[in-house]
Amino acid sequence: MIEDQLAKEFLRVTELAAIDSARTMGQGERRHSDHVATEAMRRAMDTLPMRGEVVIGEGERDEAPMLFIGEKVGRGGASDPEVDIAVDPLEGTNLCATGAPGAIAVLAASERGGLLKAPDCYMEKIIVGPRAKGSIHLDAPVAENLKAIAKRLEREVNELVVIVLDRERHEQLIADIRAAGARIKLIGDGDLSAGISAAVRGTNVHAVMGIGGAPEGVLTAAALRCLNGGMQARLVPTKEGQEERMKAMGITDPKRIYSERDLAPGDEILFAASGVTDGALLKGVRFFGHGHRVASVLMSRKSRMIRFVDTVHVEESPGIGIEF
Ligand code: FBP
Repeated sequence: MIEDQLAKEFLRVTELAAIDSARTMGQGERRHSDHVATEAMRRAMDTLPMRGEVVIGEGERDEAPMLFIGEKVGRGGASDPEVDIAVDPLEGTNLCATGAPGAIAVLAASERGGLLKAPDCYMEKIIVGPRAKGSIHLDAPVAENLKAIAKRLEREVNELVVIVLDRERHEQLIADIRAAGARIKLIGDGDLSAGISAAVRGTNVHAVMGIGGAPEGVLTAAALRCLNGGMQARLVPTKEGQEERMKAMGITDPKRIYSERDLAPGDEILFAASGVTDGALLKGVRFFGHGHRVASVLMSRKSRMIRFVDTVHVEESPGIGIEF
């Protein structure tokens, strides 16, 4: 039902967030880029026929003016479907602010209860594609996980590429991956699109390991449910009050290991992402005088559909057309 009524509309939501934030590319103002993406998303979402509630958003109610956790979105007619929404209006704020590759605008939606309500803390993650699903364990030694992934992919460990966020906290992880002999791609930001790449064959990414944002983790899990990818994750509260927040959200075991299905248990899951800056999976927004072009991916769990959508908007103006 959500898919029939809202798939195209959600795609438009991420497209609009991507277009507005792409206009700020390279301006060096990551907060401003995030703000315009959030405003565009919120504006577009409020026109949709749904009774939506943000479960993963821009932060807690007291710290985010818009798209905060618990915010109601959509036109909210009595006969409109109830939808839980997870958003990251601009994933990779630094990437957009510096014009670096890989910034995207992201949204996932599900029936009520279909996406985990998680606090805005960190999350420890291992993400793999369909063939390596079920072979990894978050608490297993790094070398053991890599061996298991390599076996499933019918190759040697030294033929694997693992993406890791380039952070001090990953010093030991990086040393362990190196010692195991796998290749590493260190990224400055953007473990969500990295996670999607790990689940898509031909990207030359075989796993993502390390600690990133929990909101990005839930959104990754939604995409993985559509792509048959696998994930193990655990929340990592680092700031005062986050454990209490977890409890208030119904998370009773703070050390629990979640699978992609635990993080995004929904039956109906829609996932939409649009490229802001050029990336491995999606091109960034291109502007050409009287129009623009946006590349997106739209996935649906229930109908097993993954659509790559290339949208060109051309203003009515003499002499304006599109080119390939
Ligand atoms: P933003 O888009 O909010 O800037 O997040 C980018 C990101 O790199 C995520 O992809 C990742 O999950 C998280 O930040 C990691 O957090 P930190 O930068 O604190 O290590």
